[in-house]
Amino acid sequence: MDAKPRLAVFCSGNGSNFEAIAAAVKKNKLRARIACLVCDKPGARAVERAHRYQVPVVLVNPKLFSSRKDYEKFIVRVLRNQGVEVVILAGFMRILTPHFIRAYQGKILNIHPSYLPQFKGAHAIRDAYEAGVRETGVTVHLVTEDVDTGPILAQERVKIRPSDTLASLEKRIHAVEHRLYPAAITAFLKSTPFKKIK
Ligand code: GRF
Repeated sequence: MDAKPRLAVFCSGNGSNFEAIAAAVKKNKLRARIACLVCDKPGARAVERAHRYQVPVVLVNPKLFSSRKDYEKFIVRVLRNQGVEVVILAGFMRILTPHFIRAYQGKILNIHPSYLPQFKGAHAIRDAYEAGVRETGVTVHLVTEDVDTGPILAQERVKIRPSDTLASLEKRIHAVEHRLYPAAITAFLKSTPFKKIK
């Protein structure tokens, strides 16, 4: 096994950020290995993308577990078995409990489609659009026990044009995400010491 840090990317849906990360890894712009995609939704497009990039998929249906704790314990065990050092949340629609967060303390990254602390929550792009503000943005941050509030690793503003529809704004935000997330992961990995896995 090589010495590149091993990542697990967590997705629930489309997976366009997963693909941006996988493409950066493939081009060696992001010096890491994606050990697996963790997905909680069997039909998610992210699964198809992982197959295309030959990334193993760990499909974990929360309904098959009696509690959130058991579900997360199972995932942590799988990640440890695969030598995963860093967890990358990319559109994972489940809030992680302190049990999981403590297992990967300081090593869980998330991307959020707003300029935090503005527009926290699950509908950040729509909320900014409907609020009539002139700009919103994208934030990459570390995950702590409080949702959307961990230390910020990277941020970029995105203007909202008078001519924007919600769809055109979403498209521009996603384009920024696809550039910002791989770059922020790269910077994070450079700044964090990882033990070599044999
Ligand atoms: C992104 O907008 C991300 O910021 C948010 O969920 C969305 C996931 O999109 N957390 P995709 O699945 O990567 O296409």
